[in-house]
Amino acid sequence: MFDLIVDNARLYPMAGAASRAAARSFAVLDGRIATVGATGPARARLDAEDRVVLPGFIDCHTHALYVGDRLHEREQRRAGASYAEIARAGGGILSTVRGVRAASVEQLCAATKPRLLALAREGVTTVEVKSGYGLDLTSEIRMLEAIDQLRRELPIDLSATCLAAHAVPPEMSRASYVDFVIEELLPAVHARGLARRIDIYIEHLAFDLADAERIFLAARTLGLGIHAHCEQLSLMHASELAARHGARAVSHLEYLDGRGIEALARNGTVAVLLPGAFYCLNETRLPPIAGLRAARVPMAVATDLNPGTSPVASLLTCLHMAATLFGLSAEEALLGVTDHAAHALGLEDRGRLTVGRRADFSLWDLPEPAMLTYQLGGLAPSAVYVEGKPL
Ligand code: NIG
Ligand code: FE
Repeated sequence: MFDLIVDNARLYPMAGAASRAAARSFAVLDGRIATVGATGPARARLDAEDRVVLPGFIDCHTHALYVGDRLHEREQRRAGASYAEIARAGGGILSTVRGVRAASVEQLCAATKPRLLALAREGVTTVEVKSGYGLDLTSEIRMLEAIDQLRRELPIDLSATCLAAHAVPPEMSRASYVDFVIEELLPAVHARGLARRIDIYIEHLAFDLADAERIFLAARTLGLGIHAHCEQLSLMHASELAARHGARAVSHLEYLDGRGIEALARNGTVAVLLPGAFYCLNETRLPPIAGLRAARVPMAVATDLNPGTSPVASLLTCLHMAATLFGLSAEEALLGVTDHAAHALGLEDRGRLTVGRRADFSLWDLPEPAMLTYQLGGLAPSAVYVEGKPL
């Protein structure tokens, strides 16, 4: 006896426009896909009425947990200041750090919940959320605890990443902060089981390759996964270093070069594209999509939802931007928010509607999924299911 049968569906188990299944139905048991194609007795039945059924979307790179906004930076940038100049003057990430340090878990959760629910309404069923606006022991842990609390409160799944190495806090030198992250913070986060991976911002205004190497080694010793922000504003060869240390994913990549592409291909590292940040910062340098494609590097697409570079609480908008601004095909863009995003997070139990995976899916009244890379705005799923249950 299955829990749910979904039938009369135009089923896209891999989410790519070219990979529609011959099957029209699937069954769910204990939150997982039990069979595709066959039917049988079930406690409930969902008639999809010939709608498109896609795997639940996965937003694999966000800084969704924060309080306040940085609206004034928009004006500063309009007046000619760059993101880097604003950061060097003590604005940027550090201005959000001041707000987050002063906020309680309840305040962090209350400010973040509407953003996560906005993503869920678009069919997003898993969201990665980073710390990185605390930059001290108690504030980083408080951020990760808030993510854990939201995970328990919300119907979608959240996956926490410790981004302690996001910026150097004003009260410390870079060297002593890196020592503190390695010796105290990461072991404390690991001991509490609050994050399954680390991230680091490798850039001239943040951390360098030597800092990154030390942090990667510490993460590997603790068995934490590795992600990194690389080559966003300049070519630092950070992607090569991260890939060599077994990074699951590296993000941004506007300045990535051929050597970096080769390193990602060799190590099976996912290239996470963040067109929301590219757009909001008015960038003109495109990530090397043709090179990534030729080297068969899996590409994911995420919102980078954050108050500075990408106040974009819409994965559908980013999917559209990935296609329109970066030139991804509809299939590449859709794989980028499903299977490849799951792989970036090491969550191989989702991202496709195949037997054994989580029954996270959404129903769409569309002629075909590629419509999501064509029409901007006005599109929403008619239903979203997480582990076989309606939102
Ligand atoms: O992914 N580049 C560093 N981190 C974020 C920005 C965070 C912020 O500005 O608050 C990003 O773009
Ligand atoms: Fe980011």
